[in-house]
Amino acid sequence: MAISSEEVAQVRASTDLVALIGEHSALKRQGRRWLGLCPFHSEKTPSFSVNAEEGLYYCFGCQASGDAITFVREIERLDFVDAVRLLADRAGVVIHEDASSSTTAKLRTQLLSAMEQAVEWYHERLLSAPDAGPARDYLRSRGYDGDVVRKFRLGWAPDEWDALSRALNLEAHVLAESGLGFVNRAGRTQDAFRSRIIFPICDPSGRPIALGGRVLPPVDPNRAPATNRRAEPKYKNSQETPIYSKRRTLYALNWAKTGVISADEVVVCEGYTDVIGLFQVGVERAVATCGTALGEDHFKLLRNFAKRVVLAYDADSAGQSATSRVYEWERRHDVDVAVAALPAGSDPADLARSDPDALLRAVNDARPFLGFRVERVFQDADLVTPEGRAHVADAALAVVAEHPDELVRDQYLMQIADRCRLSHDLVRTRLAAAVKRATRRPTDNDDDHGSARPPRRSGSQSRGESRPGLEALRLIVHRRDEVSSRFDPILFADPLHKSACLVLMNSDSLAQAASDSPGDVADLLYRVAVEDPIDDVDSLGDPVDSLVTQLVREAAKRALADELADARAGGRELEALQADTARVRLWLEDLEDPAACKTAVESLLAWLRERSEEV
Ligand code: UTP
Ligand code: MN
Repeated sequence: MAISSEEVAQVRASTDLVALIGEHSALKRQGRRWLGLCPFHSEKTPSFSVNAEEGLYYCFGCQASGDAITFVREIERLDFVDAVRLLADRAGVVIHEDASSSTTAKLRTQLLSAMEQAVEWYHERLLSAPDAGPARDYLRSRGYDGDVVRKFRLGWAPDEWDALSRALNLEAHVLAESGLGFVNRAGRTQDAFRSRIIFPICDPSGRPIALGGRVLPPVDPNRAPATNRRAEPKYKNSQETPIYSKRRTLYALNWAKTGVISADEVVVCEGYTDVIGLFQVGVERAVATCGTALGEDHFKLLRNFAKRVVLAYDADSAGQSATSRVYEWERRHDVDVAVAALPAGSDPADLARSDPDALLRAVNDARPFLGFRVERVFQDADLVTPEGRAHVADAALAVVAEHPDELVRDQYLMQIADRCRLSHDLVRTRLAAAVKRATRRPTDNDDDHGSARPPRRSGSQSRGESRPGLEALRLIVHRRDEVSSRFDPILFADPLHKSACLVLMNSDSLAQAASDSPGDVADLLYRVAVEDPIDDVDSLGDPVDSLVTQLVREAAKRALADELADARAGGRELEALQADTARVRLWLEDLEDPAACKTAVESLLAWLRERSEEV
């Protein structure tokens, strides 16, 4: 082992599991635990549960379970040591390990630190360096005040070869692998970003992982760019690195997360400046893709935070964005995709300046994706002539035909028919033909993943199968100090429950119990750890009492049945057995009498213990 078990335990204890998992799914408090959509499988209703006190999670849908380390291993696809290092880094725990341990996590830590230093350095430059004057003027001209600059940690990369490299003095390989710089042919380190405004791109917890850099517009827009300079792209973005994957990153999710969760809606745009514009008009739930198209992985991330995704793209790109895949994503990730209808030729950043109310209206009145596309067909349509109306109907039907849900198609069909003054039946026939053409394409063969498959077991079902044994385990886990002396492993019928009870009583903590147990017992422990005991406090009597009574009753009945079977096998007279067990049957009767119950429970427990020792 490369890391000592004390240090592993320390890392585990220092990790806030709710915060960690909260970067991948919106968790809501429910009683003693936290509940959310499972980050490991696609689902519509939350079945992923986190027990913060014990630092454990369990999914009733896909049975994913474990602690902070397991979570990081599975979500980041890291090995044990790397997962521990990552968590140690987050929690600020220093770990000591031998040289043989993995280098991936070490590199990640170095890159994160380099990126943080760079962002801070660029930010300071923008705020105070004399050479950043034109950048400050430009940002001011776009309506960015100091608060905006500080919130988004905007920066300025000076027009020098190696200002950052010199200032940070990073190891050459860290500089190169972070994408902050490179070693040039002369063997000297050089900065990757020069003479650009810096937009830091962060992970959901707010740590910078990449940069976007924008050129300043020429001072005189009519003057051609200087000939000795190559025409630079407007934006330059960090390359992919061990800490940065474009496909899986959304700019500003770290700042938008709270707003997204509370509105249950996320606004997705194309540019960094669009996000900032939306925040400026109060839409603090905006994110952007990072120089790449919106894709499957973005949805995987977003669906855990919001039910509704509003695309705030420039009008032309919105209609075309990955059309057929949008429906697939809606279905697979159970989200609704809507489109904010922005005036042609303007993006959210422009609109935030020129007409903030129009921007707010567009976002608030966002239409379902299909509705938006149909509307666009009608926009430039000739509805005056009969030929014109027939033509529009056909064009609109072609769009509707792509939608996978017949009921939805039919709704739009009737709208289109009415607007084009055509009979519903005629249009319906027409649509059926269009659908046939559209579905001939071989796409939808994806039933083996995603939400098409119902979770094997939902939370409520597994709760329904809850027997007194499970309930007792829940109580032992959640109210350990109070109740653990009241239960006894012999009370459990299910061998799995019995082992779980035994291991719980012999260990100091749930985490220790789980790690001392074989897989099936550990799974059971994880599961009960995230389930609240049924809170019966208002019901008559003490819930622990009634549960103990119930368990004792059943255990005693089982024991009696065993005695009977043994007696038969040994050829004993039933009469003799009846005499032997007469007092047991009396105690069982006493259980139903409130006045005698307590003593009967104790007597039966003593008898059961005695019996189990004899065996
Ligand atoms: P746009 O060209 O639409 O720029 O690029 P913008 O967002 O309106 O920027 P401003 O308002 O002029 O400052 C949108 C996004 O596409 C990526 C960037 O992520 C940018 O935010 N992009 C654009 C590039 O990666 N490279 C480019 O050269 C241009
Ligand atoms: Mn713009």
